Amino acid sequence: MATRAEVDVLPTREALMEAAAARFVSAAGAALRASARFVVALAGGSTPKALYALLAGAPWAGRVDWSRVHVFWGDERVPSRAAAACERVLREMFAPPVGPPRHAPGARFDLVLLGMGDNGHTASLFPGGTAVRETERWVVAERVDAVEMWRVTLTPIVINAAGEVAFLVSGAEKAPMLRRVLEGPHEPDALPAQVVAPDDGRLRWLVDAPAAARLERR
Ligand code: 6PG
Repeated sequence: MATRAEVDVLPTREALMEAAAARFVSAAGAALRASARFVVALAGGSTPKALYALLAGAPWAGRVDWSRVHVFWGDERVPSRAAAACERVLREMFAPPVGPPRHAPGARFDLVLLGMGDNGHTASLFPGGTAVRETERWVVAERVDAVEMWRVTLTPIVINAAGEVAFLVSGAEKAPMLRRVLEGPHEPDALPAQVVAPDDGRLRWLVDAPAAARLERR
């Protein structure tokens, strides 16, 4: 049963990044207490750059045992051969040669960070694409006309098996789409961010006030 999304509205972009850093450190601590490693998928795009800069410096950097952190990108701008290679690495790491990841520490991503495009895409799950409906593979490659390039992306199978998924959304330009995704009709083919509904993990939307400005339920 998918868990209900938690929406945390932070007053500013800076407060959003601090809250995201705290979530990252908390998720890493929990994972390292439950298993030998913390396996995280990072979002691309511009929004999380400030988060990554925070995590790379004091005080946040000293709060994570980076020697036990395994970092992946949630999506990449590379040829399609990389998709199969990435899936092999993940299946070796999470152990099941076939089927979805198991819902247990060490057998899935502990944390997946995602952004949201103003067209409702996330990772490289784009509107009208086939990756949003993938039910077997963990990583797929797709030619995305909207950005005129091949993309490789984690699929809903592996994202929704994660222990925790956190969206980071900032800026007034995202407000109309954030309202559609969070409060509008369920239409994941048009709004792929809606396909993210962790099976038993936590789903958080960390958003700043400008991005949340159109939300009715806050
Ligand atoms: C990418 C990301 C993509 C991104 C959104 C939001 O590689 O670009 O995977 O899904 O998170 O496009 O990007 P911004 O944070 O730049 O708005």
